[in-house]
Amino acid sequence: MANHAPAGHEKIETSNFLMIVLVLLTVAVGGLVEIVPLFFQRSTTQPVEGLKPYTALQLAGRDVYVREGCYNCHSQMVRPFRAETLRYGPYSKAGEFVYDRPFQWGSKRTGPDLHRVGGKYSDEWHRIHLINPRDLVPESNMPAYPWLETAAVDPAQMPTKLKVLRTLGAPYSDDEIAKAGDEVKGKTELDAVVAYLQVLGTAVK
Ligand code: HEC
Repeated sequence: MANHAPAGHEKIETSNFLMIVLVLLTVAVGGLVEIVPLFFQRSTTQPVEGLKPYTALQLAGRDVYVREGCYNCHSQMVRPFRAETLRYGPYSKAGEFVYDRPFQWGSKRTGPDLHRVGGKYSDEWHRIHLINPRDLVPESNMPAYPWLETAAVDPAQMPTKLKVLRTLGAPYSDDEIAKAGDEVKGKTELDAVVAYLQVLGTAVK
């Protein structure tokens, strides 16, 4: 037992106030050092080569994905571990998500990760699967989304959506914005979700 006046470390450990202030200071400095550089590093702020912003139809599909809460069961981030890259393909890079607002990374995996699902199945597979997953995967507990087949995508909304994303940095041309409505005319939400799923993770070869 110390029978002298507390000094050095003992002083900190026996004072709630000093302990709290110094812990907060340490966490704040540590946090800044880790987080701030991410805003300036090319690898986290620049699109990977070959990445394109979503087309109007893919974007409409992405909105359906968010609305239906697919992210509650599916992550979109392949982590850099061997078990993951063997199962899903190359691990996800930050530069693949620069046009994703908001990100759909997620962490809940009731179903498989979807970041590299683009091109894994045919459009027809996805259509059947979304209308009733059990038709293809008998043991699946994924919900059926039969209404997507009859719900139409609203062309009137698309130019505004692209414009908003342009203000946030997606490089859409005036021409792409003007044609955004036409691109989704006559398309169903099912067409849109499938277009979205098929482009996921395809920028990296
Ligand atoms: C309640 C959880 C749950 C929800 C919500 C859910 N899924 Fe799934 N999903 C699963 C499970 C479990 C599987 C694996 C079995 C199967 O293939 O059906 C799966 C599989 C998939 C697959 C095949 C992946 C692969 O690599 O084989 C796709 C694509 C998919 N889901 C898309 C979607 C989309 C799009 C939505 C939203 C419209 C959605 N899921 C919502 C649970 C869910």
